[in-house]
Amino acid sequence: MSTQSVRVWDLPLRLFHWLLLICVAGALVTIQLKAMDWHGRFGLAVLGLLVFRLVWGVIGSTHARFWSFAPWPRSLVDYLRGRWHGLGHNPLGALSVFAILAVLLFQSVTGLFADDVIAFTGPLRRAVSGDTASQLTSWHMRMEYVIYGLIALHLAAIAFHELIKRERLVKPMITGRKPVGSSPVQDARGGGWIAFVIAVLVAGAAVWVANGALLSPPPPPPPDLGW
Ligand code: HEM
Ligand code: HEM
Repeated sequence: MSTQSVRVWDLPLRLFHWLLLICVAGALVTIQLKAMDWHGRFGLAVLGLLVFRLVWGVIGSTHARFWSFAPWPRSLVDYLRGRWHGLGHNPLGALSVFAILAVLLFQSVTGLFADDVIAFTGPLRRAVSGDTASQLTSWHMRMEYVIYGLIALHLAAIAFHELIKRERLVKPMITGRKPVGSSPVQDARGGGWIAFVIAVLVAGAAVWVANGALLSPPPPPPPDLGW
């Protein structure tokens, strides 16, 4: 039986994935190193990547579109009964994809308002009251273990598919292509250059705003009277 392969994951989606891995790891490692400035930079990069992904989920190529892998109850039941034969994220995997995206979005947005009460604050901290900032900071800190849990689940699910079910998932996330036996299946379509430029511009604008570009400048420090 001849084995052909089809294009499943477009290049921007693959770049998004591996950059997300680097930036989330960066945000978590810099916390341990107490390098808060870098924590903030990695966190902003995560936010930019997520905004890119949200736009790409609408105007990206076939399997990058959220609609194409939305985990409807019916597709979940089909999947659990072994009757699902799609190419993109399977419905159970799709649940974890949406959970990872939502939690990281929550984390990077709450980080913008967070305050460590020592030396580092998120770039939008000034836009909210002290009470709101401390609530958002406590949510930001509480999410740490949820993030570790989701990443562990993600890696366990991928290991299960690779090692037990003998399904190649990691290689397609690198090359973009999946083997499909001899059945005639179409390559993913759409998500061209114009869509890519739009998504990058929207993500860049979001990071610009998130970094405090629209806030009025902070009040000047009191004059030094030399006393
Ligand atoms: C911080 C760590 C990671 C995060 C936050 C993360 C996040 C994600 C997200 C959001 C997706 C969905 C892609 C999309 O449609 O947007 C995804 C898919 C995927 N990730 Fe990761 N990932 C991480 C680490 C890894 C690692 C280390 C590997 C491999 C060794 C990996 C392999 C994959 C694969 C194979 C898929 C596609 C699954 C499928 O075919 O349905 N990920 N990941
Ligand atoms: C997805 C990206 C992010 C992750 C995974 C993340 C993760 C964390 C974690 C785990 C902590 C707790 C550290 C501890 O236990 O002391 C923390 C604290 C903090 N993060 Fe983030 N963060 C992210 C994004 C951001 C962003 C975008 C900003 C702001 C630019 C930010 C600002 C802060 C601040 C100010 C604290 C200190 C809170 C405190 O110690 O009271 N974070 N972050």
